[in-house]
Amino acid sequence: MTRTVYVNGDYLPEDEAKISVFDRGFLMADAVYEVTSVLDGKLIDFDGHAVRLERSLRELDMAAPCSKDELLEIHRKLVAENGIVEGLVYLQVTRGSDGDRDFLFPAPETKPGIVLFTQNKPNLADSPASKKGAKIISIEDIRWGRRDIKTTQLLYPSMGKMMAKKAGCDDAWMVEDGYVTEGTSNNAYFIKNGTIVTRPLSTDILHGITRKAVLRLAEEAQMKIEERLFTVDEAKEADEAFTTSASAFVMPVVEIDGVQLGDGTPGPIAKRLREIYLDESRKTAV
Ligand code: PDD
Repeated sequence: MTRTVYVNGDYLPEDEAKISVFDRGFLMADAVYEVTSVLDGKLIDFDGHAVRLERSLRELDMAAPCSKDELLEIHRKLVAENGIVEGLVYLQVTRGSDGDRDFLFPAPETKPGIVLFTQNKPNLADSPASKKGAKIISIEDIRWGRRDIKTTQLLYPSMGKMMAKKAGCDDAWMVEDGYVTEGTSNNAYFIKNGTIVTRPLSTDILHGITRKAVLRLAEEAQMKIEERLFTVDEAKEADEAFTTSASAFVMPVVEIDGVQLGDGTPGPIAKRLREIYLDESRKTAV
């Protein structure tokens, strides 16, 4: 089935959608994005993603292509048109194009570019990967210093996933100055003696929308949380570990750099957090 996608104001079949070769998203990765999950045909935490998008745009002095209400309408229309019950909506906003390549930003009145498309993922909630748990390698974090802005500069995270694949693993955690920053496309946590440990928010990591929800739910469930820097060695000695993201929710981690955690299967707290998160998300989806 051909997907309907949204490009700069138009809903089009995917093979008819076009963007300019001069678009700065294409030429300079001068673009920001969001990925929102869909369960039961509804959007999970749309508001959180819309607010983070506004922040990313503001931090880069980029114009918003439309209002939040219009954005919600586009998301909903694409989900409906493409019959998505479980899956993802990808949204990208670029600084647009003034018809040439230049390092300097185009005139402020240049229209931003906007692209949205859906991805059908029928097993997103009941994912086989989450039942097995993820094997992680650690790699150096050599990304730029504003990881709190959700830009489309994803070459290094993409290389990180390839390094993991080559090592027979599922993903990579990045390490800077001896401390874990985050996963290639998720936030990272370990659990020791019942306490959940994760890196505090700063410009070093993306302020995950799933992170915020999961930490709130963990607190409501009387779990102990410590937001502090941690090393890979500490995580290797943990009882459990997990990651969070809109595309995989709470993903248990069962191995780090070849060291098995617990009995090598998803831990009880990570599994419980995944269930709580999915239940709560279904209730509040729009
Ligand atoms: N990635 N950290 C990084 C570097 C990420 O790319 C992501 C999300 C997260 C988790 O953020 P959230 O909970 O808001 O999804 C953390 C998305 C899913 C992606 O690139 O596909």
